[in-house]
Amino acid sequence: MRYKAVKGTADILPERAGGRLELRRMLETVSQNVFRKFGYREIRTPIIEERSLFVKSIGEETDIVAKEMFSFKDRGRRELVLRPEGTAPIARAYLDASLNKIGPFQKFYYIGPMFRTERPQAGRMRQFDQIGAEAIGSMSPEIDAEVIKLLAAILDEIKIRDYRIRVNNLGCKDDKAGLSKTLRRLLARKKDLLCGDCGRRIDVNPLRVLDCKDGSCRDIVRGAFKSVEFLCGECREHFKKVLTCLGKLKIEYTVDPYIVRGLDYYTRTVFEVSHSALGSQDALGAGGRYDNLISDMGGPPVGAAGFALGMERILMAAAGQDATALPGEGQVVYLAAVGEAAHDKGFELINLLRSGEWRGVSFDMDYENRSLKAQMREADKSGAWLVLIIGDEELSKGGVTLKYMRLKDRAQEFLRFDEAAEKVREALTQC
Ligand code: HAM
Repeated sequence: MRYKAVKGTADILPERAGGRLELRRMLETVSQNVFRKFGYREIRTPIIEERSLFVKSIGEETDIVAKEMFSFKDRGRRELVLRPEGTAPIARAYLDASLNKIGPFQKFYYIGPMFRTERPQAGRMRQFDQIGAEAIGSMSPEIDAEVIKLLAAILDEIKIRDYRIRVNNLGCKDDKAGLSKTLRRLLARKKDLLCGDCGRRIDVNPLRVLDCKDGSCRDIVRGAFKSVEFLCGECREHFKKVLTCLGKLKIEYTVDPYIVRGLDYYTRTVFEVSHSALGSQDALGAGGRYDNLISDMGGPPVGAAGFALGMERILMAAAGQDATALPGEGQVVYLAAVGEAAHDKGFELINLLRSGEWRGVSFDMDYENRSLKAQMREADKSGAWLVLIIGDEELSKGGVTLKYMRLKDRAQEFLRFDEAAEKVREALTQC
């Protein structure tokens, strides 16, 4: 019996095996550097959480909670789920550790797997990785702009081009309730013309009709929505300041009044970042402000904002660009030895080299005593920058032949064993 990865999940294989693990690691490293620059600290929360955490925060009637959570009971018959997102767990952790007492304003970042039982398709997985940030403890509009800047800085750093940022303001809790009431009234009259999902949404979550993918629902609600003014003075002022800050930070964006987001905790600013190379699942990332989440969970009334980027989708967008768009993989040095004595010396040498201080360099060799031709083929496959060759002749001269695999003429030179580390270091800078 051969097993396959569970539907909607995927093994993440090393590049050499046709996967993209190193690229992912690179993306993580680049993101971590950007987060650090912005003063965000890493947080890791458990993958399992109580189901009710998400029911309360994301909302009972949302797609995620109603139909997309992996849920199960533990031995104490508690209802648990695999986390579908990171915001609610981080809000929980913030309160659990009484971080508000240490300092009410805290900035966190996280990178890790999330789980949703959605129907798998390109860019939509049941296990996927998010890179996210949460700034908890501030109502300042500068924070809204800063988290958008942070997201853009990560995409820029990994050289994703042509992404599009759309922002909107949903208003405070009261504004949202007022808008829902108005929409409910407007939509009830057109119920027959709405799709099945939106027919049900009228009562439970009429805001979602605004971003329905069905053309007819869209036309109806957008036609009716044009004349609706629902933001209170404070929320309008907040949004104005957010847009001014975005301008100061030189971020290109458009205001899209139809972004509502599929999670109930959002208030005021919401945003989505899309990329045309992604097809129907075109959101690279999204986020917004959630000023009531901490207090709804029993904490103090502190504002918060954050975002999450989908790692798989970033990699898909990167794949659509030229190969140089992402920072290069690490440098590989491959050792090819011919004959038993050379192999033994090579094994010693490669381990000696590994004991030095190297950044992003990996050393590998053949362990099967294959022919030189087979070893050179393997070196090519592994993307080697340099190959160190040892045969009888090299052994007798007390050194190795170094071959520059990245230079057009694949030039070679002889190195003595005692100078090998220093010369390899030099050679890597010349590739
Ligand atoms: P979200 O829009 O549900 O927001 O997810 C954020 C990003 O995760 C999406 O834009 C997409 O790139 C990726 N994503 C979501 N579902 C899948 C999937 N099934 N397969 C692959 N990628 C997916 C949140 O999760 C919020 N917690 C974001 C946030 C943080 N808001 C405030 N702070």
